[in-house]
Order: sequence, then structure tokens, then C-alpha cells
Amino acid sequence: MESMESKKKIVLIDDDIVSLLVGKNALLDAYDLHTVPSGKALFELLAHIVPDLLLLDIEMPGMDGYEVLNTLRSDPRTVHIPVIFMTGKDKADDELAGLELGAVDYITKPIAPALLRKRIAMYLLMADQQRQLERYNAGLQQMVAQKTHTILALQNAVVELLSVVVEYRDDQTGGHIHRTRRYLAIIMEEMLRSGVYAEEVASWDRQLMVLASALHDVGKLAIPDSILLKPDPLNAEELAIIKKHPEYGGDIIERVEYDALDRSFIEHARIMATTHHEKWDGTGYPLGLAGTEIPLQGRLMALADVYDALLFRRPYKPAMSHEEALEVIRRGSGAAFDPALVTVVLKAADRLEEASLSALE
Ligand SMILES: [Fe+2]
Repeated sequence: MESMESKKKIVLIDDDIVSLLVGKNALLDAYDLHTVPSGKALFELLAHIVPDLLLLDIEMPGMDGYEVLNTLRSDPRTVHIPVIFMTGKDKADDELAGLELGAVDYITKPIAPALLRKRIAMYLLMADQQRQLERYNAGLQQMVAQKTHTILALQNAVVELLSVVVEYRDDQTGGHIHRTRRYLAIIMEEMLRSGVYAEEVASWDRQLMVLASALHDVGKLAIPDSILLKPDPLNAEELAIIKKHPEYGGDIIERVEYDALDRSFIEHARIMATTHHEKWDGTGYPLGLAGTEIPLQGRLMALADVYDALLFRRPYKPAMSHEEALEVIRRGSGAAFDPALVTVVLKAADRLEEASLSALE
């Protein structure tokens, strides 16, 4: 015989002594059975045990079955306990009312012991299976969340590493890539608020886009130190080599075999690397694209890139104040930069300055 420990707990609630006795005889062998004569007695008992199933009489003096069920459903501790209603009534209305309140089934009295045992076994099995399924689902969800977290962390780390490698060579002050990431996030926020190319921006995973921007100068890895780090002005030939870095960057990123379904990261990265030196009026490089021929990511990256380059000293030019840098950008509207985006940058000027300063710490 099974021990009390492994037996399922069932509570039978009925004010009718005969029903309690019939139920007891039918169930006592197989279950850890408790019998109580009223709703009040049930709630006293529930302070000590959480049953696996309740058999609940509908017509009782004091609290009736509906009231008991309502109270059970309003307590998180008892909300999930399956309840089978029992009643002498067999009217369809009563049955519906009980099921709507959340009873799992309905048994008509007088109780047929064999049928009662069969039904109870079925509901306990169903409840067990339900619990197993819930546990399994929760486990799956947790596993997916963990894996996703690991993948994202790895992706971040790899991008970070690559961008540090790029930056390490030609940015003495450091932080250019981190700052441009912040600028892009701020500018895109303002675009959404002001409705400037908002639909296109809203269609992107902006976090991914910002992360991808870290690779915009990855093509500089292919530029020799003698040119990249030259303190003196570059001659025409050297300049032509430097100007190849967007193409090199695009090539490097395209070589990544990115097997994932979602190629948006690689796409953002490739577009920004290739087109961040294009100019609105068509005088940029490498392709000399003009206006909206230049992908939006490229037009955005150009602004973030130039704003930061103006603010922070490079070997070949002095740093500017925030106001001076904004003035250069304002004058570049329609020439180097997309006028609509210049408006956005001017609107977000304070936040951009803050981002440029906080990044200094
Ligand atoms: Fe560049």
C-alpha cells in the first residue's frame, strides 16, 4: 500500500452526512482524504494543507459551493486547485454556472463510487500533466533566455574587440567609437520624436544598429601604419589609399559568413562602413552617391563621425568647441549632410554635448 506521503490529498466538502460517508468509503483507500461539513471548515483546513483536488457540494447552509469556489479562486494559494462540483441538482444552468466559475467538472448525486474514483483519477492525472508541461515550458524559456543572453554577450564582446583593434591604431585620445554609438542613439531617438525618417528608423533594431556602427572604420585595418599614423599632411597618393577604407571595410564585413536568419546586424555594419564618407551633394567617397542614394545609416554615421572628429583632437587638426562643431555641421547642411538630419542634430544638440562630455570621464 502507498504511504500517506505519496497519496494525493483530496478534500470532500458536504453538509450531508450520507454523502460524506459514501465519499469516504469510495476514496479512503486510494487517497489522503479529508472530509469537512462546511465552507468555513474547509478554509480552516486550508490553513494547514493544500489539497490536490476538492469535491465540493453546491447546496450547503452558510457558504454555498459557488461562494466557496469564488473565495478559492481569489487566493493565489488555492486558485489552481481543481474543483469538482457535486450536487443533487442536474439542471444545465447549475452546471454552466459552476463551470464558468472554474470548476473542472460536475458530478451528480447520489454518488456512484466507481465513477467517482475514475473521474478523480482522470483529473489528478490531467493536473499532473499540466504541471509537468508548465515546468517543462518554464525550463525551456529559461534555457532560451540564457542562450540568447550568451549569444548577445558574445556578439557584443567580439564587436567591441574588433572596434578596439581599429581604434587602438589611430585614435590617440580613444573613445571615438563609444561616443559615436551614443550620438547615434540620441539622434535616432530625436528622429522618432520629430518624425524625420521615423518609419525607417522604427523598422530597425536600434540597439543592433548602434552596435554595428562600431565597425564603421574596420577598413582602416587594411591601411598601412605609415599612412594612417603619419603626423604630416598626406600627399595625394596617400590620401587615395586612406579613402579606400570604406571599401575595405565593406569587403571585410561581407566576408563574415553570417549564417543566422537575421542578417540585419551585418547589413547595418556593411552599409555604415561603406557609405559613411559619402556626402549629400555627391562629392564624397568612395562611390560619390548623392542625396537619398546614400543609405540612411550612412548619412547618420557621417554626422556622428564628423561631429566627434571636430570635437576631439586628431593628429592633423585641432579640437573645436561644441558650438563651433555645430556651426560646421549647420554650414554643411545640404552640402556634406542631409538637411533633415542636420535639423535633428541641432534639436538634439544639448544631449549630444552631454554625451560627448560624459564620455570623457
Ligand atoms: Fe571613416
